[in-house]
Amino acid sequence: MLILAIESSCDDTAAAVLEDNHRVLSNVISSQFDVHAKYGGIVPELASRCHIEAIWPVVSEALATAEVSLADIDLIAATRGPGLVGSLLVGFTFAKAVALVNNIPCTGVDHMAGHLLAIMLEENRPDFPYTALVVSGGNTSIFTVTGTTKFILQGRTRDDAAGEAFDKVAKLLDLGYPGGPVVSDLAEKGNPKAIAFPRAWLADDSLDFSFSGLKTSVVNHVNRCRQKGEPVAFADICASFEQAVVDVLVEKTILAAKNCGHKRVVIGGGVAANKKLRNQMAERCREEGLDSFIPSPVFCTDNAAMIGLAGYYQFAGGATVGPDTDAYSRSPLN
Ligand code: KG4
Repeated sequence: MLILAIESSCDDTAAAVLEDNHRVLSNVISSQFDVHAKYGGIVPELASRCHIEAIWPVVSEALATAEVSLADIDLIAATRGPGLVGSLLVGFTFAKAVALVNNIPCTGVDHMAGHLLAIMLEENRPDFPYTALVVSGGNTSIFTVTGTTKFILQGRTRDDAAGEAFDKVAKLLDLGYPGGPVVSDLAEKGNPKAIAFPRAWLADDSLDFSFSGLKTSVVNHVNRCRQKGEPVAFADICASFEQAVVDVLVEKTILAAKNCGHKRVVIGGGVAANKKLRNQMAERCREEGLDSFIPSPVFCTDNAAMIGLAGYYQFAGGATVGPDTDAYSRSPLN
């Protein structure tokens, strides 16, 4: 089965062609970093317009790279939600229209399901069940995954997502957008123990997250330095902030796995591209006798290959969409 997958939930226009569930024949991503960088964050209306311009070239390139044409495609899978509705509508409507005109079945995929299953695009795949942390610009949640379409929420952020906190700290320090990669690059030059930023553990057994207090703490620290005329140690701030985020993400994920008696831990989402998180998660899992499964960075950040994979399983379960099916901004999984 050949699948054309489309992802446009936020600021990346992406298309991929998959053969069956695992074989990625092409994976094309057009990013809008340059458009949004000067605003220090995503401007939704600009994102939608960029998707409109990019969607057909990106899909054409994905088909050409895979050396197939629309006539060869057996299924179109597109992100239905969650995300920015204007952005989602471009990819999802495009997918439904192309499917209708070419008489190809179409399935609408939950973006979170893509992140939860992205690890299956790798050669080393976990068996079910596993504990999965999805950590991106819009979500920070822990799930139990018991099958290709079975996801049970264990905990979620009560305020900001971890990626959002990275982006806001980068904006505060005027480091540019997107914040995650710049903050983590700078963090490598700093001391993670330099500043004792708070870790929001919440209740002892809570699997929920909160990053707004940490963000405020960074703001207060920077303001204090500026008021006292002291230099703002950018690298130390980034390293200490990153350490505070990673400690909480790792320990809560391990707690969730132990509570459920799972032996396998998976991570996904844009922040899962963070080196410190990848290394610390792998090391702590080893110490706890758990197996960790971490996708390549290209399958962590937004991509259409993971949407094709999740769409394959959804379609196998009989889920298709029609021309009237709407996109949604909030995930029913979360
Ligand atoms: O999954 P994603 O590509 O888009 C969605 O939010 O759905 O994630 C983007 C988020 C942004 O907040 C970005 O700053 C963060 O992931 N990110 C990182 C890194 N790379 C991307 N955060 C920390 N370290 C990174 N290396």
